[in-house]
Amino acid sequence: MSGWQAGFDPERGVFVTGTDTGVGKTVVAAAWLCQWRAAGVDAAPMKPVQTGCVGRGSALRAPDLEVCLDSAGMKAAPAEYARMAPYRYRPACSPHLEARMAGETISLRRIRSAALALLRNHERLVVEGAGGVMAPIGGGRTMLDIMTMFGFPVVVVARPGLGTLNHTLLTLDALRGRGLPVAGIVINQAQPGKMGFIEKDNIRTLGRLGRSPILACIPFGGTRKGLSPRVFPAGAGPERRWWRVGRAARIEGAGAQ
Ligand SMILES: Nc1ncnc2c1ncn2[C@@H]1O[C@H](COP(=O)(O)OP(=O)(O)O)[C@@H](O)[C@H]1O
Ligand SMILES: [Mg+2]
Repeated sequence: MSGWQAGFDPERGVFVTGTDTGVGKTVVAAAWLCQWRAAGVDAAPMKPVQTGCVGRGSALRAPDLEVCLDSAGMKAAPAEYARMAPYRYRPACSPHLEARMAGETISLRRIRSAALALLRNHERLVVEGAGGVMAPIGGGRTMLDIMTMFGFPVVVVARPGLGTLNHTLLTLDALRGRGLPVAGIVINQAQPGKMGFIEKDNIRTLGRLGRSPILACIPFGGTRKGLSPRVFPAGAGPERRWWRVGRAARIEGAGAQ
């Protein structure tokens, strides 16, 4: 790794990725942030590349970042907000396409300086990727390059249903290929549906073949607008066991509400 890429202490953050878009990365990032803060750690959220922004110019709002800030009851002044979401684009499409349409190149140096500035004021970062590990960011690079630059332990959010074995194992393989530490897998049911024999076996199989701990299994729940991290049980931080993985693959303490 070249000199300018180094510089992050792996203990000072976590990177939340997923097997796809819409799998629950933001929900998990927000929950992780809330748990760290509830444990007294001054953690801050970061979304290096945010798609689907609303508003205009420097007032462009980053929806995933705002879920994290709101969940943790945090406010960010404009300068800090810009560091937390350095690349904000309106269209909800792949980062490489957004950057091209905006006529700019996503710079790892810029993301790195924003993160280092945040780490001067906060103890840890919860960084959420865009899409999955191979989502292109332009210039032949992918999200993996951003993740490698951080070097933080990676949490992989995955679906419980059919297809998840291939997607999750490929994701883990790509992370290991870059020498990235894997914190574990969170299986999240972002869509309604029952946990049938396939889903239950997928969890067991990922536990066996993934060579990473299953940190949590989150059932479908929440409000009509989605799952609010506020429903997550307080107290058990990610450093202990986050949610107990029950045989029926439910999170302890978080009923549907
Ligand atoms: N376990 C869940 N139960 C109910 N809704 C969920 C759950 N997980 C995620 N969602 C909802 O699904 C949508 C996609 O989740 P999100 O965290 O934004 O995914 P990603 O960040 O991977 O794109 C959001 O509306 C979110 O609130
Ligand atoms: Mg998201």
